[in-house]
Amino acid sequence: METIKILGFGGSLREGSYNWALLENAKEMMPEGSELTLYDLKDIPVYNQDLDENLPDSVKKFKEAVRNADGILISTPEYNFSIPGFLKNALDFASRPPSDNPFPGKPVAIMSASGSMLGGARVQYHLRQVLGYLDMKQIYKPEVFLTFAHTKFDQNMKLTDDGAREFIKQLLAKLVNEARANLK
Ligand SMILES: Cc1cc2nc3c(=O)[nH]c(=O)nc-3n(C[C@H](O)[C@H](O)[C@H](O)COP(=O)(O)O)c2cc1C
Repeated sequence: METIKILGFGGSLREGSYNWALLENAKEMMPEGSELTLYDLKDIPVYNQDLDENLPDSVKKFKEAVRNADGILISTPEYNFSIPGFLKNALDFASRPPSDNPFPGKPVAIMSASGSMLGGARVQYHLRQVLGYLDMKQIYKPEVFLTFAHTKFDQNMKLTDDGAREFIKQLLAKLVNEARANLK
């Protein structure tokens, strides 16, 4: 059976990001026959439409990674009730030019972690709107909102919340199944 390749990104750019930690933890929760590779968005510059026909190398590299993946996993914080600028910016840049957009038809699952009691619920709905326009195949359930994130990792950033681990495993299993079905 072919190994299913999932590309994970988002997190936040700060050291010690709980969302990046969620992605790191997800690596060990991947179903058999799949692997998760993480991609750091820190080198993606601010989008400028003048560059559509002459993309920066960092954007080309990111697009290539998306194209080579069978599915995408995004873990994101919520900034001011919405999508962090750096993440929306990376999605915008990589979607250009429209004739060379790697996202349509690609399976995608999302997670969010926040210090609040809602766990970044609102960012997920804004992000789903964008992923819908990108024509990606979204996994809708389970919804993974890591609430009170600062209480749910040990000193090595291992996720200690068993319930959250179970939901993440279910989400990853659905993503990998969708990605496998999508190859046929
Ligand atoms: C600019 C900014 C805006 C934020 N807005 C929200 C928000 O709307 N809702 C929320 O739950 N947390 C908000 N937070 C708190 C983040 O959820 C918290 O910092 C979280 O740890 C960020 O994720 P990270 O650990 O992956 O960096 C905000 C943080 C920043 C820096």
